[in-house]
Amino acid sequence: MSEALIQVSHLKKYFQVPKHKDLFVRAVDDVSFDIPEGEIVGVVGESGCGKSTLGRCIMHLTDVTSGSVTYKGKDISGIGRKEMKEYRRHMQMVFQNPYSSFNPRHTIGGTLMDVTKEYGMNKKEGQERIVDLVGQIGLDPVVLARRPSELSGGQLQRLAVARALIVNPSFILADEAVSALDVSVQAQILNMIMDLRQEYHLTMMFISHDLTVVEHVSDEVVIMYLGKVMEKGKAVELFDNPLHPYTEALMSAKPREKPDQETNRIILNGDVPNAINVPPYCRFCTRCRDFIPGVCDKVAPQLKQVSGDHWVACHKICPA
Ligand SMILES: Nc1ncnc2c1ncn2[C@@H]1O[C@H](COP(=O)(O)OP(=O)(O)OP(=O)(O)O)[C@@H](O)[C@H]1O
Ligand SMILES: [Mg+2]
Repeated sequence: MSEALIQVSHLKKYFQVPKHKDLFVRAVDDVSFDIPEGEIVGVVGESGCGKSTLGRCIMHLTDVTSGSVTYKGKDISGIGRKEMKEYRRHMQMVFQNPYSSFNPRHTIGGTLMDVTKEYGMNKKEGQERIVDLVGQIGLDPVVLARRPSELSGGQLQRLAVARALIVNPSFILADEAVSALDVSVQAQILNMIMDLRQEYHLTMMFISHDLTVVEHVSDEVVIMYLGKVMEKGKAVELFDNPLHPYTEALMSAKPREKPDQETNRIILNGDVPNAINVPPYCRFCTRCRDFIPGVCDKVAPQLKQVSGDHWVACHKICPA
């Protein structure tokens, strides 16, 4: 197995509720997983489960409450801004809205040249690098003379990926990078990312609320619910044999591949508990079809290894 490029250990990020000293949103609550070198780890879960906060903690864009994030064995969760600048070179991000990666008043070429300058390339090196990359993402260099508003969302998202690749990073975190695009453009961008991944030997964390997208790209998958990891493991294993009732429900909601295919859609009943008052027992139990009274509403399930790399936090699967 490949070594972990990034290790997330017992990571917590709590946000204090304004005017309530003792109330916190537990956005990320004791999350641990590895991102092995050269692999893509997909992080999935419903809106508000803490995916972006987890990503921001890994990228050191926000302080962590406790726990650690290591990059090549070095704890980067507590380092200063100056030292982090060096790590930024190796760790880049692609966001959902590509317009946020480009200055609306600058040409695309101008913004990309600024990035090359920031990382110490001279004008000639910068221009060569940009033209190379634009070719690799399948666009004509004429796009460099345009402003963001003169490009489609798909073209701009390709360029956002190119922007992240300028400095030859080891790691890219993509947060809902294709969610705003229509399905055919999504597929093109995902295929492009898969090609570039080979070429650049990239390690990635791919955040999405869409399981189909994550299935398409990931080697490993982490399923999150209200700040906690519910299940994690190799993508092939997890998609073939989902164990957590939450993962099963997410999978049952995937669109059918063929119109005549049967679906056994699991409807998630009940309410998502308030992220401020998360219960001290299983967070999913209010919506779980396998709820065991007296167990699931009493004790928080620990994430336990069920086989090889497959881990699940569920009393039904791993009784105490
Ligand atoms: N700066 C902040 N201050 C207070 N609460 C925050 C802050 N950022 C996020 N939260 C809260 O933390 C929780 C997790 O939010 P986060 O944005 O990480 O979820 P997400 O899984 O990325 O959701 P989405 O799929 O909608 O992007 C939410 O309850 C959110 O309201
Ligand atoms: Mg998010």
